[in-house]
Amino acid sequence: MPKDYFTSLSDHKSPPTYFFFNGQTWIPSTSSETIEVISPVDGHIMGRIQKVTHSEIDQAIDRAHEAQLSWQDEPMIKRAKILHLASDWMRQHEHYLTTLLMKEIGKTHPDAKDEILRSADMIDYFAHEGLHLKGEELSGDAFPGYDQTKMAIIERVPLGVILAIAPFNYPVNLSVSKIAPALITGNAVIFKPPTQGTISSLHLTEIFRMAGIPEGIITTVTGGGKDIGDYLCTHSGINMVTFTGSSQVGKSIAEKIGMIPILFECGGNNPALVLPDSDMELTATEIVKGAFSYSGQRCTAIKYVLGLESTVNKLLPLVVKKTKEMIKMGDPRIEENNLGPLISDSAAEEIEKRIILAKAAGARIVLGGKRTGRYVEPTILENVRPSMEVLHTETFGPVVSFIKVKSIDEAIKIINESSYGLQASIFTNDEGAGIKLGQKIEVGSVQINSKPQRGPDHFPFLGIKDSGSGVQGIRYTLEAMTRLRSIVLNKPH
Ligand code: G3H
Repeated sequence: MPKDYFTSLSDHKSPPTYFFFNGQTWIPSTSSETIEVISPVDGHIMGRIQKVTHSEIDQAIDRAHEAQLSWQDEPMIKRAKILHLASDWMRQHEHYLTTLLMKEIGKTHPDAKDEILRSADMIDYFAHEGLHLKGEELSGDAFPGYDQTKMAIIERVPLGVILAIAPFNYPVNLSVSKIAPALITGNAVIFKPPTQGTISSLHLTEIFRMAGIPEGIITTVTGGGKDIGDYLCTHSGINMVTFTGSSQVGKSIAEKIGMIPILFECGGNNPALVLPDSDMELTATEIVKGAFSYSGQRCTAIKYVLGLESTVNKLLPLVVKKTKEMIKMGDPRIEENNLGPLISDSAAEEIEKRIILAKAAGARIVLGGKRTGRYVEPTILENVRPSMEVLHTETFGPVVSFIKVKSIDEAIKIINESSYGLQASIFTNDEGAGIKLGQKIEVGSVQINSKPQRGPDHFPFLGIKDSGSGVQGIRYTLEAMTRLRSIVLNKPH
């Protein structure tokens, strides 16, 4: 499909200046200020995005409240049809959107394409599952002292205006995972895309607009998180915040916003615990994919591997071999490769700094460790201690650390002492033992014999401790974006 389809988004100069969507139309901000979006792949300026003002945010939120009242009264089946149209548009424009993602956030072709198609599937699933969301009726006589004259009619109703804040690593998919459930359940959305990823997110907004989402129901406000983040999150017109991003930012938002519902997916620092009986080939393959896909910039990436000395001695050479094979697939800049740049110069410098600090503190670099611009080699470390910066806080890059433990209990202690609690993997040929160990690990989900991952998207996805609050996953997200309304009927005796 021609990119002309998206003509209203920008002024068409080179590089283009993109507008923001005020709920009704694409316009420049009255601030007259813009931010450059730089491609991490080759450093070229892809475009400029608007810095919206606080007063533009106020207007958008007022408009959203007004529009939401009619939207919640639309038949659910009508809202579902609009969402299905949006997913159709997305599939039709897959090639264009994939190419855009590759340039804007440095994803490889398979990963970018997967993000677009997964998003289309996700929209359909939300629309379908929304139709089956239901309330219930309760009779009073189930509780001692009451009879059938009391009856509760319990409905699920929308929350109102939901603020959706998405991260750079999935600017389409982790936006869809917030916007689609909000829309099907009759909410309006104020969408704040990640600065790096904004251009892709604006295209997503246009797809929803073209599919027929009414005016005022989606507004896409752009600008730096520092300028508008707090203003949006603490705005009295926001009825819920759904956010994906770092634990640090998540905790800071949660402290400020007061008593409204939140659905937060924050950082992960995910371990892989390898038992001596595991299938070492499969384990090594999963560790390489888990640690290095999208250059480790996924909250579900494997960040450290724990095993007895004999296990690590067998596993480590295999992981090194498979990582080298992955690199040999071609130059890191070649799109078919599993590797890509980090999102910015500063992100790559931070990873390099952590590797250098780990080495100075006694870690050994088994493979990689070097940075060229925004590209960091896939890096394998050993002799790492949990107190080192590279493991203490999430290292959002292609680094995996190996830790030799004296016992499995010691490994579990290390995992549970972490301030993060998103996912963990256990590798073993004894599924029963894996489940038993999984029950001792304090994280949202434990994967037996696989790398950590969010999908399939209808599974519950949650972080505990600093890794998040609330549960995502199609039905769980729909429930989180609605509240119960109970009408109690008192029938005459
Ligand atoms: O970065 C956080 C994402 O939720 C991870 O999703 O496991 O599908 O890569 P993924």
